[in-house]
Amino acid sequence: MRTQVGIIGAGPSGLLLARMLQLQGIESIIIESRSRAYIEARIRAGVMEHWVAELTDEVGLGARMRREGLVHDGLEISFAGQRRRIDLKGLTGKSIMVYGQQEFVKDFVAARLDDGLPIHFEAAGVSIHNIEGDSPRIRFTDKDGAPREIECDFIGGCDGFHGICRPAIPADKLSIFEKTYPYAWLGVMVEAPPSSDELIYSSHDNGFALHSMRSPELTRLYLQVSPDEDLENWRDERIWAELQTRLTQDGDWRLNEGPVLQKGITPMRSFVCETMRHGRLFLAGDSAHIVPPTGAKGMNLAAADVKVLAGALTDFYKSGDSAGLDGYTAQCLPRIWKAERFSWWMTQMLHLSPDGDGFDRRVQLAEIDYITGSEAGARSLAENYVGLPFD
Ligand code: FAD
Ligand code: PHB
Repeated sequence: MRTQVGIIGAGPSGLLLARMLQLQGIESIIIESRSRAYIEARIRAGVMEHWVAELTDEVGLGARMRREGLVHDGLEISFAGQRRRIDLKGLTGKSIMVYGQQEFVKDFVAARLDDGLPIHFEAAGVSIHNIEGDSPRIRFTDKDGAPREIECDFIGGCDGFHGICRPAIPADKLSIFEKTYPYAWLGVMVEAPPSSDELIYSSHDNGFALHSMRSPELTRLYLQVSPDEDLENWRDERIWAELQTRLTQDGDWRLNEGPVLQKGITPMRSFVCETMRHGRLFLAGDSAHIVPPTGAKGMNLAAADVKVLAGALTDFYKSGDSAGLDGYTAQCLPRIWKAERFSWWMTQMLHLSPDGDGFDRRVQLAEIDYITGSEAGARSLAENYVGLPFD
């Protein structure tokens, strides 16, 4: 098999890259280690920055998102017995789109398969070769057990944090910058109407909690827990009691409860790999960087890399200009580091530090009071949250 761009991974990065290339007449093949059912059921991010929703429209796949997604003009921050609203729209002129990542994945997979374009699901033993040469190769065993080899011009390393692409770059050619946090998120998907029209980020003395949603019937909730926490210790009654305590800060407001459809624990990490390119391999999304989920930046940052990469590949194929490809890492890193900074900042501002003392907690509450009480503070949060402009 031969193609122009071989793409490893059918997450948001790989699917968006394939779609943007397709619209420019550039061929690609996607190789995904999981099944279609698995990637369409995997619950992850929920918030799309303003421009990511617009890009989804531009690539022709925004119809269901516009019908079923929820446009939010603000969010709330709860602390010290009160809740304050950040008016995202009023402060920036922009809204966010609440639409589950797996719905985005479903829309992109369906469109690609309808167009008769290839995604090899359930590929085993995926490996990449000759990335320093002119025609890199991808080898894998397909779902029927047959060995396959794809020759291509470029490889899109869109295979997430635990993929095989980043480790294919020689260790002396990259630098890793990393931070782990002394907490994790326990997330639940609940069959209950959201208890508020907007997201609520809560900084409570028991720890952080978040109220989010997926639809008028589905609520998504998170609790700060210890990173070594065993899910077995969190029966539904304990989760509800803790969510009620951490989210109910004022008066008679109560969190709607309902059947827990899914629960899981996500570790929190900041991670950046510099370089994002080696030879003809280009990393995009979680394969190159991770943010803690507090700023809702993971999927948005993946889309930002892909926007740059798709533009650079288009320039190369249309006019032979390789400046965009050569400048890929340098073009992406400033935005990545701003999202890393914002996610780290939101995380440390809102979570209870297990090593913190009374002084630390008071400084934290003063910061939240300032950010939610000053227009300058709120505007800074808002413009990062809705997505910084592209340079
Ligand atoms: P991924 O979505 O990870 O996609 C990579 C794809 O590559 C996957 O389909 C994977 O199966 C495939 N793959 C992996 N290895 C191989 C291989 N060797 N060969 C072929 N295919 C391979 N962000 C938020 O903003 N909010 C959240 O609440 C949130 N929750 C998250 C929860 C979890 C458990 C995780 C892991 C991430 C979460 N994120 C969240 C981050 C966000 O979901 C990611 O930033 C986003 O998925 C990045 O997209 P991606 O396409 O780069 O990577
Ligand atoms: C979500 O809805 O899953 C979500 C929302 C905001 C975040 C993280 C996750 O910061």
